[in-house]
Amino acid sequence: MTSPPTISATALRRSTADVLQAVGVPEADADVVAASLVEADRRGTHSHGVLRLPLYVQAVQTGGIAPAPQMRWVREHGATAVLDAEGGFGQVAVARALDKAREIVAAHATAVVAVCGSSHYGTGAYWTNQLARDGLVALLVSTTGASVTPFGGAEKLLGTNPLTISFPTGGEPVVLDMATSSGAYGRIVTASKEGQPIPEGWAVDSSGVPTTDADAALAGALLPFGGHKGSGLAILLELLAGPLAGGNMAAETTDMWADPSVRMGTGHLLWVVDPVGLHGDDAAIGRAAGFQRRLREAAPAQGVSEVLSPGDVEQRNAEARVEQVPVPGSVLDDLAALTRSLGLPDPRSQETVPR
Ligand SMILES: NC(=O)c1ccc[n+]([C@@H]2O[C@H](COP(=O)([O-])OP(=O)(O)OC[C@H]3O[C@@H](n4cnc5c(N)ncnc54)[C@H](O)[C@@H]3O)[C@@H](O)[C@H]2O)c1
Repeated sequence: MTSPPTISATALRRSTADVLQAVGVPEADADVVAASLVEADRRGTHSHGVLRLPLYVQAVQTGGIAPAPQMRWVREHGATAVLDAEGGFGQVAVARALDKAREIVAAHATAVVAVCGSSHYGTGAYWTNQLARDGLVALLVSTTGASVTPFGGAEKLLGTNPLTISFPTGGEPVVLDMATSSGAYGRIVTASKEGQPIPEGWAVDSSGVPTTDADAALAGALLPFGGHKGSGLAILLELLAGPLAGGNMAAETTDMWADPSVRMGTGHLLWVVDPVGLHGDDAAIGRAAGFQRRLREAAPAQGVSEVLSPGDVEQRNAEARVEQVPVPGSVLDDLAALTRSLGLPDPRSQETVPR
């Protein structure tokens, strides 16, 4: 396979924010969404990078995402708060949830912030790592549209229900950031766009037969990771981000990929703990740092060069791509078509223009 082309992260961020502003997203919110998408590409999570922008724009233009909603705190009680995102961008809602969680944690050492009426927030680690870099443990979950069959089934009843947990270490957090489907939906969309097969065990076709064809997988259903255990985890996450947070469950959601004009009503649940507030000292953070080192020093299995801590793959990508970011060629072509349609310059032509 040939390496994807690279583009300046600054140019990509500016172009992404300009596109969002051109369809009515306020500048500050456009910057929040753009930063999250480009950071996903920088970390190699292309399924949640600028690949999503054309769909976001379609959703804004057809009413599926409100570009400038009045998000409202509908309830604040003890260490909890509920935000109604009023159909806005998931990224903008989660950025507000982070601010609220910091405020609550300062008083209570923990916070549970629920978001309802939201949309897609992109890659989870982008949000929880911000809290972990400030010494807070953070867990974030979300509902999505239905694309996954429960264990033993052949019917889309669950979302790809992401689970993200970041734990502070004083350096880069230990972060698990994953879809509970065997493969992230966006990765299958990327494979379909690039004409690539998907790994075995990721999906069944519309007749319930296992497939490695990305298009057949999109028409059929994704499989949960880890058999009955992964399926059970996805079901519980569906309950945390659905009924508990107040979001639509997958089966009640029309996914943006299926029809961008429909409000998804996505729910997110953010749970934050301050280990220093809990114990009165930062021993937990020091122990996590020691464990992260120990993990990386663990004896590797035959044929494996090293053991990694969760989050290392993405962090290494980010460190290697401070400014030039590889983005799949088909994604850059789509972005160029999008900017052209809005009368904006091609992001590739802006490489040397400073912000
Ligand atoms: N917003 C949404 O609705 C939504 C839905 C689904 C997924 N997502 C996002 O999709 C992204 C991709 O999810 P995914 O399931 O494809 O992730 P993945 O399978 O690439 O990685 C999952 C986790 O495994 C870790 N990992 C990878 N290789 C490793 C190794 N060799 N050793 C140790 N750890 C390793 C990664 O650091 C990561 O924490 C995530 O950012 C997730 O938040 C978002």
